[in-house]
Amino acid sequence: MFSRSPIIAALLASAGTVLPVQAVTLADAEASYHTLQQFYNESIGLWIPSTGWWNSANLIADLAAIDGSVKAQSQSVFSNTFREAQLYNLQMQKVVGANYLPWTPNPHQTNGFLNSYYDDEGWWALAWIAAYDVTGNGQYLSTAESIFEDMKAAAGTTPCDGLIWWDKNHTYVNAIANELFLDVAAHLANRGGNRASYYLSWAKKQWASFKGSGMINDQNTINDGLNITTCQNNGGTVWSYNQGVILGGLTELSKATKDNAYITIAKQIADAAIANLTDSCEPDCGADGSQFKGVFARNLQILQQASPEARYATFLQDNANSIWANDREWQDELSLIWSGPFIQPANASTQSSALDAIVGALATS
Ligand SMILES: *[C@@H]1O[C@H](CO)[C@@H](O)[C@H](O)[C@H]1NC(C)=O
Ligand SMILES: *[C@@H]1O[C@H](CO)[C@@H](O)[C@H](O)[C@H]1NC(C)=O
Ligand SMILES: *[C@@H]1O[C@H](CO)[C@@H](O)[C@H](O)[C@H]1NC(C)=O
Ligand SMILES: *[C@@H]1O[C@H](CO)[C@@H](O)[C@H](O)[C@H]1NC(C)=O
Ligand SMILES: *[C@@H]1O[C@H](CO)[C@@H](O)[C@H](O)[C@H]1NC(C)=O
Repeated sequence: MFSRSPIIAALLASAGTVLPVQAVTLADAEASYHTLQQFYNESIGLWIPSTGWWNSANLIADLAAIDGSVKAQSQSVFSNTFREAQLYNLQMQKVVGANYLPWTPNPHQTNGFLNSYYDDEGWWALAWIAAYDVTGNGQYLSTAESIFEDMKAAAGTTPCDGLIWWDKNHTYVNAIANELFLDVAAHLANRGGNRASYYLSWAKKQWASFKGSGMINDQNTINDGLNITTCQNNGGTVWSYNQGVILGGLTELSKATKDNAYITIAKQIADAAIANLTDSCEPDCGADGSQFKGVFARNLQILQQASPEARYATFLQDNANSIWANDREWQDELSLIWSGPFIQPANASTQSSALDAIVGALATS
């Protein structure tokens, strides 16, 4: 939902202060996964209250994709989240209906992962695609497809050429919702069976709109959004998650088209992000901002797996090793500042974000 809070940091930027540290291991990742699961709220299938609704969508599949034992344990988490999170969401969406009686959308008629924010929907679509990749469960894929349809209905309804709104109240056109729409379409283009070409044409169209929107500035970093009066770049903060989601979208688009030009653009954006994300909110990044760096790391991993560069592998490893050496407390809790020191609180947001960097390092080393 309102995903605005500061971001973090070309980690380890302070040359000379970094001591050599041991390489992080799969056992370390498993330990931090178990700590993460202590924040899981079984009854609602989410990591609430430790983190929020859309943030929970970012938590569900990353380590499972590379670790057999976590994969086995994850199956029940996916199915529990799939069932309970929809019911929780419906409850939260209660509205006042006819005769002022509270009305809850019918769970059998409503996709329980939709809400009033297209970015939240996009995170959940990606979560279920990731869970599908791990499990092969077609129900997860079709859930992502139906979320895509809801996002698609917003395409071209803004004053700004082809783009979607951030919200169903039509208050803002921003980068994250539009990157997520691209990313979901491009993922589905590689998984959509006989509908693959339909998703591919949406992914290409959305990339053309995004590229034409001016949200990518002349330094190859991406600002927060557009002024909806002028449809020009609003000069908003360059958040790390906006430099991340686009990498996954472009990588998937390149896979679907076999066109390497998308990778070239992705690398320009990744390099600009790594070079320039030096402004820091730490230690006060709010409930959403504490997860942004992990989104960047996870998507850099996707790019790296498709088209490796030594500099990205080093970046992921340096961050992961530093987290483990400098940003860890008892019971393997991981906090916000990856260069250290550990600060309170560690929660599902900081834990999953740091785990994303660790998984990124392990998956690409
Ligand atoms: C799980 O979430 C529900 C609904 O928000 C809440 O009432 C409950 O206290 C949470 N449980 C834990 C263990 O935090
Ligand atoms: C949408 O706008 C209406 C009218 O201004 C407001 O009452 C409602 O709370 C808004 N919904 C959301 C989810 O912001
Ligand atoms: C958008 O641009 C218009 C026209 O230049 C300006 O008047 C307005 O203040 C801008 N809105 C925001 C939110 O910056
Ligand atoms: C990084 O930021 C500096 C100053 O803000 C700018 O001059 C430079 O062009 C940026 N580099 C990249 C790669 O974006
Ligand atoms: C999680 O921790 C971060 C960083 O310590 C903090 O900014 C954020 O508010 C916490 N989130 C919640 C939901 O308490």
